[in-house]
Amino acid sequence: MANTHFDVIIIGAGAAGLMCAAQAGLRGRKVLLLDHAKQAGKKILISGGGRCNFTNMDVEPNNYLCSNPHFVKSALSRYTQWDFLGLIAKYNVAYHERDFGQLFCDDSAKEIVNILVSECQEAGAKIQLRTEILGIEKTDNGYNVNTNLLSYTCESLVIASGGLSMPKLGATPFGYKVAEQFGLSVLPTRAGLVPFTLHDHDKEKYQDLSGVSIPTRIESKDGTSFAADMLFTHRGLSGPVVLQISNYWLAGEAVSIDLLPNIDLTAELTQQRESHPNQSVKNTLALWLPKRFVEALIESKQITDKPLKQLDHKEFDGLIHTINHWQVKPNGTEGYRTAEVTLGGVDTDQLSSKTMECKDVKGLYFIGEVTDVTGWLGGYNFQWAWACGWAAGQSV
Ligand code: FDA
Repeated sequence: MANTHFDVIIIGAGAAGLMCAAQAGLRGRKVLLLDHAKQAGKKILISGGGRCNFTNMDVEPNNYLCSNPHFVKSALSRYTQWDFLGLIAKYNVAYHERDFGQLFCDDSAKEIVNILVSECQEAGAKIQLRTEILGIEKTDNGYNVNTNLLSYTCESLVIASGGLSMPKLGATPFGYKVAEQFGLSVLPTRAGLVPFTLHDHDKEKYQDLSGVSIPTRIESKDGTSFAADMLFTHRGLSGPVVLQISNYWLAGEAVSIDLLPNIDLTAELTQQRESHPNQSVKNTLALWLPKRFVEALIESKQITDKPLKQLDHKEFDGLIHTINHWQVKPNGTEGYRTAEVTLGGVDTDQLSSKTMECKDVKGLYFIGEVTDVTGWLGGYNFQWAWACGWAAGQSV
């Protein structure tokens, strides 16, 4: 008869669950890691375009959104990016740094999954895939976990089932339901790190630009801003800068986009007007922006095309203002279908920031994206998964 008692059961063999399982196993705990998927770490495998942006050179608490901004501090300081790089070094995985301190595998994201699975094996943690969780019950000594295969018991139960993004990869609201079952509050969820969609009238204006990318700085209504490339798509706007600002955008709001963040437009336009007074606004802006985009701005009467020398003061200032503060009101986002993360989730006020255990439900832990912690684009979400998985792994 199969042994069905474990010290620790972890539900969700993603980034956080794998890290937690390995750490708990290393402490000599008998660990069972359950997942309904056929493969462990599916999101890791497709992350970073298949090369996994596994952490960042510069990780600070302010790279995270959480209703309690102090919550992430303890875990992030006890398991840092340098600790994860130590693990990368142990397995000799080659990696490189890209813009903004982002670290990617040279070869494949599979190497990250292999590291985590090897660590679990080395620590004696059992990974069991293709297992449907039918229900959870609290017992006097811990928990019963009923599955389609067997019923298991454990002292500590860790929920690492992730958020709602990419249901195709196996994302479910399981973790939120468990939280509600045990009386914990779940903060409203929404798609994050996600492209914007545009209203039909805007989509028509910019549809010819699909595939064109330009450097911008985008500011949300709350004053948060990011500078990076923006990509026109056939549905709206994407690219790293749009994904970043999407975390700070609320439905119905406009964003303000500086279309030329890297030049002093007043100085450049003044110089162009002096040296080429008969040059058109269109040809002047086309020195720095894709011509098709400038034409779209002119056709939709957001700017007026005339020779530079004919611009009066008001028109000159207005042109600069339009380019530096281009207003776009997204229709919405592409939603969980393409979102990299889920904002909101299990309210961290109810969790210990040191161990991730529920303050009022002994032996129940929540880690990873299921919690109300969301990182910026750039390896921050995996670093959170490693850090809180490690923290729980020391306690379970
Ligand atoms: P994760 O989603 O990894 O794991 C949850 C696990 O629980 C899954 O294995 C799932 O099958 C399982 N599960 C769910 N419901 C279940 C149920 N009912 N029963 C049993 N098992 C269940 N981040 C980053 O830092 N760098 C990057 O490069 C990227 N790139 C990226 C690309 C794409 C396309 C996406 C969608 C996301 C990213 N991310 C990222 C975000 C990152 O993938 C994410 O934040 C972490 O995977 C979260 O780790 P978790 O372990 O919390 O959840």
